[in-house]
Amino acid sequence: MFETMPAASPDPIFGLSEAFRADPRPDKINLGIGVYRDEQGRTPVLAAVKEAEARFLDEQTSMSYLAIEGTESYGRAVQALLLGDSSEIIASGRVLTAHTPGGTGALRVAGDLLRNQCPETRVWMSEPTWANHHQVFAAAGLTSRKYAYFDRQRNRVDFEAMLEAVEGIPQGDVVLLHGCCHNPTGADLTPDQWRILARLLKEQGLLPLVDLAYQGFAIGLEADVDGLQALCKEVPEVIVCSSFSKNFALYNERVGALTIVAGTADAVDAITSQVKLRIRSTYSNPPAHGGAIVTTILEDEALRRGWQEELSRMRQRIQAMRRLLVTSLDERGVRLSSEGNDFLLRQYGMFSFSGLTEQQVARLREDHAIYVVGSGRVNFAAMTQENMPRVCDAIAAVV
Ligand code: LMR
Repeated sequence: MFETMPAASPDPIFGLSEAFRADPRPDKINLGIGVYRDEQGRTPVLAAVKEAEARFLDEQTSMSYLAIEGTESYGRAVQALLLGDSSEIIASGRVLTAHTPGGTGALRVAGDLLRNQCPETRVWMSEPTWANHHQVFAAAGLTSRKYAYFDRQRNRVDFEAMLEAVEGIPQGDVVLLHGCCHNPTGADLTPDQWRILARLLKEQGLLPLVDLAYQGFAIGLEADVDGLQALCKEVPEVIVCSSFSKNFALYNERVGALTIVAGTADAVDAITSQVKLRIRSTYSNPPAHGGAIVTTILEDEALRRGWQEELSRMRQRIQAMRRLLVTSLDERGVRLSSEGNDFLLRQYGMFSFSGLTEQQVARLREDHAIYVVGSGRVNFAAMTQENMPRVCDAIAAVV
């Protein structure tokens, strides 16, 4: 079985981290993987998480299995974050949530569910999208297609091209959208564009699948789900794959959720049973620890307030690094696009496309020990006041 097994290529994001770890140069900088670092370059456990964990450990009486879909309290907390406390969808019982291992787990369960219900359905993804999207849906046996999204010349969403592409997607297909902080470009839809898109998706009979991995990293916890909520008002059925890796810094706890908004409350039980079937044959039931931390924080007013403050600080630091990169590049006379560098200030979240070519990315790594994803995606959350001069000198040297 194994003697002739061919080696697979390394993952474009995790493979880069492996190469980074193996690099002996002491001043190396990893602007690749989407992990938040503080001003000291650390990825700390949030104070609210530490506190919730202590409480939860103290009160924990058993490590028996959770239900296949996780706890009800976790599901309720997720739904309120996504749809809002006073959501009509929650009140009318048109929604279900399963606790999944990370957002990736949610994507895979969604893929398995879609493949089982409708094997011919295609999943349409923005060009570009997160490298793992194609892989996850291919592993579930679904075909993926691309729709136009990003204008690489002007470093912004090409909304007309996007609408034109969506108009051509056959009824019943799935359209994958990034809820906020588009990965890898940082170029998000405006609230008006979400509304226009929502109407079009409804008219075309398309099923939106929203990947929401960065809630709270763009504008704010509530503003970042405006688009999603506009979509859910217009379109009867919506899938949401969300993650708490980033906004709770619970990366290695693998805490995410698959939430499905159904057209009617009557459909919910059957959908839940199918979701459970997919989960049972994949990982059986979710790991408890991370979900318990999230639930404890969201259900406790003081912990929640503390967490929201920590989240705001992470967001503000990323925004400050965006500004600092722009001024530092401007000072060196480096222009990442023909229109200058200000486009980086109109984008959201950890990432932007820097415009660096594959050759420039390779030189950054070889000559300067600075690791950037091959597409030129950079992570602002890995930049600090201290490493910025070196990052910008290196960029200046390679462009
Ligand atoms: C990223 O895009 O770097 C993160 O979402 C981490 C991952 O799983 O790829």
